[in-house]
Order: sequence, then C-alpha cells, then structure tokens
Amino acid sequence: MVTMNKMNFAEFFAGVGLVREGLRLHNWDCVWANDISEDKRDTYVENFTHDDFHLEDIWEIVNRSSTIPDQVFLYTASFPCTDLSVAGGRKGLAGAESGTLNAFLQILKKKQQTGAHPKVVMLENVAGFLTSHKGKDVAFTVAVLNDLGYVVDIIELDAAYFTPQSRQRVFLIAVESELAQENMYIKEKYSFFDSWWINFHKNPKIRSSKVEHIIKSSPHLHWGLLDLPQPHNNAPNLNEIIQIEIPNDSKLWWNDTRKEHLYSQMSILHKETLHAMIEKSRYSYGTVYRRMRKGKSMAELRTDGKAGCLRTPRGGSSKQILIRAGFGSWKVRLLTSREYARLQGVRDTFILPENASKGYFAMGDAVCVPVIEYISEYILLPLYKRYLVAHPSAERLFANF
Ligand SMILES: C[S@@+](CC[C@H](N)C(=O)[O-])C[C@H]1O[C@@H](n2cnc3c(N)ncnc32)[C@H](O)[C@@H]1O
Repeated sequence: MVTMNKMNFAEFFAGVGLVREGLRLHNWDCVWANDISEDKRDTYVENFTHDDFHLEDIWEIVNRSSTIPDQVFLYTASFPCTDLSVAGGRKGLAGAESGTLNAFLQILKKKQQTGAHPKVVMLENVAGFLTSHKGKDVAFTVAVLNDLGYVVDIIELDAAYFTPQSRQRVFLIAVESELAQENMYIKEKYSFFDSWWINFHKNPKIRSSKVEHIIKSSPHLHWGLLDLPQPHNNAPNLNEIIQIEIPNDSKLWWNDTRKEHLYSQMSILHKETLHAMIEKSRYSYGTVYRRMRKGKSMAELRTDGKAGCLRTPRGGSSKQILIRAGFGSWKVRLLTSREYARLQGVRDTFILPENASKGYFAMGDAVCVPVIEYISEYILLPLYKRYLVAHPSAERLFANF
C-alpha cells in the first residue's frame, strides 16, 4: 500500500487547465496532467508548466499507467461531453469521445491493483450524464468505482451561483471506503426509507430528483453523502464582465446588414425587449444565442444579466452574441474570448490563445473556476485534512490549515 503524504492531484482531460486553476486557491500540487489537444496543451503550458503535461491519447496511457506517479491523493477527470449532451448523438459512454471515461476507469483499476490508487476521484460532465441511456451510464460508472473500493456522491452545481453564466454541471465524487466511513453519510444498500434520505433532501439545489431516481434505481450501489453548504448566489452581473473599453468604431461590432439579419431572427417578444433597452438613457446588455426552433434558426435574447452556457463553437452557430443597447441605438458583436474567460471565472492574467477561435474552444470546453474552488473548499480540502488526522505521519504542505 502506497502512503500518501502530499496534497496533490493528477489532472486527466486537462484541457487548458481550469481544474488546476481552481485548485490553486488551496495550493493543490499538480503532479501529472494529460490531454490529447495540442492547442490546449499550448495554452496549458503557457499558464502553468511543461514538466507535468503529457500530450497523448488517454487510451495509450492505459498500458503505461505505471508512469503516472503513485502517491497522488486526488484524480480529476473532466471527460468529453460530446456523446452525453443533447447536441451530440447521445451514444453515451459507448461513444468514441465520452467513452474515453472507460480508459480513465481502466487506469484507475490498474492503479488499484498495485495499491497506488488515489483516495479521492472527481469526475465532471454535463447534466446529460445523469440521463444518458436512462441513467444506466452513470450507474455503470458508480458500479465500477464501487468495485474499486470507492463510495460515491453525485452533486450538481450551476456556474450561475458564481459567475453570470448558466452552466449546470454534474460532479461524481468518489471517496475511498476507509476515508468515506468518517466523512460521508453512507447509505445502507437496499434501504429505501432510512434517514439517509433526510440528508439527501437537505440540499435540493445540488441534489436533484434526477439523482434521487438514479439512486433509487440502483439500490445495490454504494452511495454516500458529503456535507455541503448551499452555494450562495453571489455572481456578478453580465455588465460587470463586459470589455467596455472596446471602442465604438472597433471592427468587432457588426455592420448593419448582419445586425438586421439578427433582428429578423428574433421573435416579436424579443424585439419588444430590445426596443425597451434601446429607449433607456443608459446602456444595458443582453446576450443572444441562435437556436433551431421548429426547423427555423431563431435569435433568442436574454436580459437577466447572465449569458447562456458557453459551448465549443463547432459549426459556427454556437457562439454567444452580445447586444449593447441604450440612448436610442444598439450595437452587436460576439462576446470576446476574454469575456468567455471571465464568464468561466478566470483571472484576466490567464493567457488566452491569440487566435479567437482557439480561445472560444479553450473556454467553451472548460470548467468554471469558482465552482472548482467551492468543491476544493467544501469537499476536497476537508477530506484531505481528515486524511491527515488519520495519518499523522503525512506531510503538512500548506500554512493556512
Ligand atoms: C471537457 S474538456 C476538459 C476541459 C478542461 N477541464 C479545461 O478546464 O480546459 C475534455 C477534454 O478531453 C480532451 N480529450 C478528448 N479525447 C481525449 C483522449 N482520447 N485522450 C485525452 N484527452 C482527450 C479534449 O481535448 C478536451 O480538452
């Protein structure tokens, strides 16, 4: 059995490293990271370091899992959502992209066979993970994690608690059995009416009826609950993250033809909302997202101070559009990649790709940084602290303990 002595993690499907960015808050030490994308690697190493990044297909790593360091407390895996989201074909874990989770699980198994598996595993994906193949994909994942000796909690967190972006995401937190005994409410298998459900229902915003349904449909699985506070809604407003320094004559603003086309794609209701914004004697902002409605491309205006969920711009139509209106006129442009980054809670000193498209890809795929900070604060850090208490020989790496 490997002795764990560091507050460290390995980052699978690292992308540009926003999980790492969120874990920086509590000084988690990244010892190993992997992604297949060269573009993402370039951004990652510009912001962090070359040393621990491995540019490779995760399937190649399965047979060389011994090259991943052994003494790692936490594995994170923000695996591809393509086959789990409504926009994809819903092939789920049988799909080529989301199916890379199977490679991750195989690596975990190999590590477990040598006693060098992490104490905690965090998986992240879109809400569609919960409904993929009617919940069977997520139940399969929990079953594999159980077999490897982990107890699992599922939570749902919306970036909108922290930043002006609606972005509901699912996190599976798997805690090694021994650590879980002290730190989770563990459900008795096959027990439907126990007090465990009182704790489950304490926090309906982060544990929904979808998760309840999955647990009730899989009573043979090993479920645990982490004790979490309700996230406070303290997100800034959309207008606080806009790059107001972009001048009126910037080429980023659309010409009249493009603007009128967008207007023609709006419903009467959204046109009325836009006119009301134009008439105000101050600027206000709204975002527009194009969606297919009954076979027609519609431009949907949102004015609640939030952007819709950022996506990777495949096919060109999924970029977020910004409208600024007031003082009798209105202007339109795409949100910039820096504004995308701000919507993901990323500091302005984070280096983005110079190419705007690569920037949209980098940020559209990524995790929201303050969501990871919340998870670190209320889940990962407490688990590590309690691990240290149970293993007093473990090294204390940070001061603010
Ligand atoms: C949801 S994104 C993760 C984003 C990341 N958490 C971030 O903050 O940037 C999924 C990542 O999986 C990577 N990926 C897809 N297929 C892969 C494979 N076969 N092996 C390794 N990485 C892969 C993609 O390049 C992408 O960066």
